[in-house]
Amino acid sequence: MPSAVAAKPPLTGTRARIPVTGAPTGEVPAPFAHPAEYELARILDFYGIEWQYEPRSFPLRYDYGHVVEAFTPDFYLPDLNMYVEVTTLKTGLTAEKNRKMRMIKQLYPDVNIKLLKKRDYLRLLAKYGYGPLEPQQVPDIDRVLLTATKIQRRVGELGARISLDYAGREPVLIGVLRGVLCFMSDLMRHISLPAAAVDFMSISSYEGNGSGAVRILKDLDENIKGRDVILVEDIVDTGMTLNHIIEYLQSKRPASLSVCALLDKQARRIANVPLEYVGFEIPDEFVVGYGLDFRQRFRNLPFIAVLKHDLLP
Ligand code: IMP
Ligand code: MG
Repeated sequence: MPSAVAAKPPLTGTRARIPVTGAPTGEVPAPFAHPAEYELARILDFYGIEWQYEPRSFPLRYDYGHVVEAFTPDFYLPDLNMYVEVTTLKTGLTAEKNRKMRMIKQLYPDVNIKLLKKRDYLRLLAKYGYGPLEPQQVPDIDRVLLTATKIQRRVGELGARISLDYAGREPVLIGVLRGVLCFMSDLMRHISLPAAAVDFMSISSYEGNGSGAVRILKDLDENIKGRDVILVEDIVDTGMTLNHIIEYLQSKRPASLSVCALLDKQARRIANVPLEYVGFEIPDEFVVGYGLDFRQRFRNLPFIAVLKHDLLP
């Protein structure tokens, strides 16, 4: 029993109001008590945000050492260290919940707790990749692999490392269009060097013959001879494309050449290409979003998701 709570003089005349929780209704599976809770749990699952349901009760009032009022928030989100209480009540009817929230904040100042109305929790989820599209609007997606927040955090780390490694130099970042679009634009903003040039190449792979040979559709605009080059790639799969691009860039005799890839599908590697900077190693699945497409779709998703298997040829 927290001493701060015990030290509070017990308020008299208050009815014991320990909320009854975990009572399933017809439409909602156990342990959820309300459709909104179930919905939030499903959305959290979809976005890979860990949650616990009603893991803890907070005593609010004691009477002679007995808990006479407590509050059990619906969820705890360990990644955020945040308790969440969901409500779908109209604003006018939330007074009781608001009162309990105030009491918790007063009695447990270190506890991070939020009362979420539907609009609020949609906003919270937006931070985790629930971007311009809602899950039901992207039914072709199996699951979110990397949330927008995870991507942003990692890209920040890569940018910081590159900034350290290239301190005092003026590298040129070369992106391979079009999948690198989002990664490149975020990465360059995390590179804190006085000068970092950017350039782009576009290539088409000769599909079908298995050689992984590439044809250049758009060549470099910059002369990279004697420059420090960082080749920026969205995803390295077999490594064949990258292998050819590296060979091509080496023929231009840069001072140095390193590769920064957001995603690494190790399991499929054929060509052994050195990757100096890797965002995430991912399993052998076809992913879309954050620039990556399937037949020119899904590039605008702010997160990276696994495409449903039955869509693939
Ligand atoms: P690689 O030559 O097999 O390494 O193929 C690399 C290129 O294939 C990438 O630059 C992407 O354009 C594309 N690619 C490979 N895997 C995926 C994926 O899972 N989603 C979308 N594009 C992919
Ligand atoms: Mg590509």
